[in-house]
Amino acid sequence: MSNFEPKILAFLCNWCSYGAADLAGVSRMEYPANIRVIRVPCSGSMSPKFILEAFRQGVDGVWVSGCHPGDCHYISGNLYARRRFQLLKNLLEYIGIEPERLHFTWISSAEAGRFQEKAKQIVEAVKKVGPANEKKKLIKELKPIA
Ligand code: FES
Repeated sequence: MSNFEPKILAFLCNWCSYGAADLAGVSRMEYPANIRVIRVPCSGSMSPKFILEAFRQGVDGVWVSGCHPGDCHYISGNLYARRRFQLLKNLLEYIGIEPERLHFTWISSAEAGRFQEKAKQIVEAVKKVGPANEKKKLIKELKPIA
C-alpha cells in the first residue's frame, strides 16, 4: 500500500477555492499532484450526482471546496452545499464508503497556504484508507438519483 497514489477529484468554487489553488500555483507552493481540479461556478451548483459519478469512474477521493460562510457570490450556495454534502457523506458511510474519502472545506482565494495544507491532509487521509476499487461496486448498486 506504500506506493499507492490516490486520484482525488477536487470541485473548487470559481470565486474562492479555485483562486486559492491558482494563487498556490503562482506562488510556487507545492501541493500533491494527486489532486485533479474541476472548477465549478459555486459549491452550491454541485449535484451529489457528480460525486457519485466520480466514485463510479474510479476516483479514490472527492474534495468539494467553496467560499466561507457569508462570502458566497450566490448568497447561500455554500450553506446548501454543506448540508447536501453532509447528507451524501452519511449515506455513503452507511453503504460502506469511508468518510475519509470525502472532504468539504471553505477556502478563500487569498488562502493559498490553507489550500496547500488541506490538499496534503486530504491526500494523506485517502492514502490511509487505500484504493477505492472495491467501493465502486457499492456506488453502482445505488439507484440513480433523479
Ligand atoms: Fe463560492 Fe458559492 S460562490 S461557494
